[in-house]
Amino acid sequence: MINHLPDSPIDRSMDFPWGVPYGWYFVGYADELKPGDVKPLRYFEREQVLFRNEDGELGMLDAHCPHLGAHIGYGGKVNGKSVACPFHGWEFRPDGFCSAIPYAKKFPPIAKREPLLHSYPVKEAANVIWAWYHPENIEPIFDVVDYPEYTDPAWNNTMRYEWIAYTSPQEEAENAVDIAHFQFVHGAPGVPEGKAVYEGHVRRSRSDGRFEVMNENGEMEVFESHVQTIANGAGQKITTLEAKLKVWLMVLLTPIKRNLTEIRFSYAYPKQEPGSALEKEYFDYCERIAGETGLLADLPIFNNKVHRTNPLIVDGDGDILRYRQWFSQFYAGDDVPQQMAAE
Ligand code: FES
Ligand SMILES: [Fe+2]
Repeated sequence: MINHLPDSPIDRSMDFPWGVPYGWYFVGYADELKPGDVKPLRYFEREQVLFRNEDGELGMLDAHCPHLGAHIGYGGKVNGKSVACPFHGWEFRPDGFCSAIPYAKKFPPIAKREPLLHSYPVKEAANVIWAWYHPENIEPIFDVVDYPEYTDPAWNNTMRYEWIAYTSPQEEAENAVDIAHFQFVHGAPGVPEGKAVYEGHVRRSRSDGRFEVMNENGEMEVFESHVQTIANGAGQKITTLEAKLKVWLMVLLTPIKRNLTEIRFSYAYPKQEPGSALEKEYFDYCERIAGETGLLADLPIFNNKVHRTNPLIVDGDGDILRYRQWFSQFYAGDDVPQQMAAE
């Protein structure tokens, strides 16, 4: 359930100098789409229908029927391997081919030769249904990363949050690189990002350290901590934190259009004894990152800011320009933004 709608009276769609970046994006949780389910979607400045057929196979097609244009996601029904259009019952397989026209005696030759609807590459990993978007419909050029903890029965994966904001994947993810804002927006002194490594479509950062906490007996306990963040293209980012608590946080960014984005947090952590103090610690930790001092504090900034193409960067700002240079690879064709080159 989206719990925080944007509150911006100004259409800032012209403020971002880019289109929708390509990549793998969240389009649903795998455990929330059962065989027979059909769901309308509006992502990437397009419209789609997502369904799971009776064999359990996923299909994501452009939404509007090639016959007379009905949106298949509104009232369409799964029939065997296909989804049937609600208007005149034409059926489409996950690969976009038409599989039946129930009332026609002659099947159009073109429908035998080629798919009538664009089908998006879809995958399931880490309990997420991922769709590949590319503005020129180019096939995937990298893969999603699976985190089996999200489907491991010994792990809890039910803490999920979602918001919608006037932002884009590039701007939202820049927030993690923007070290200085943690003090002013989140009330936390600089959060060390560790060392960042850029390799093709992957950005990796890691920081290792130790921290001390007082336990319930008043003794100091020391924990080694390893925090690793992997951005896998524009739509999949995961932070794994291993210290006293072991928490995986997947940040899922799906653009509805270039300046309007759904933001999701999906956590996973080892299941704890129900009602235990440790379970509460896990819960509070997840809540904090999502709550008033966490993402909710970022939203008013996102919803009302503009993008500065040539920002005045000072020392202590974090490596924002290097990040932008890396991100610019995900725009294709006319969508490539004019970015300030990193020095
Ligand atoms: S519009 Fe879909 S079958 Fe006619
Ligand atoms: Fe933030």
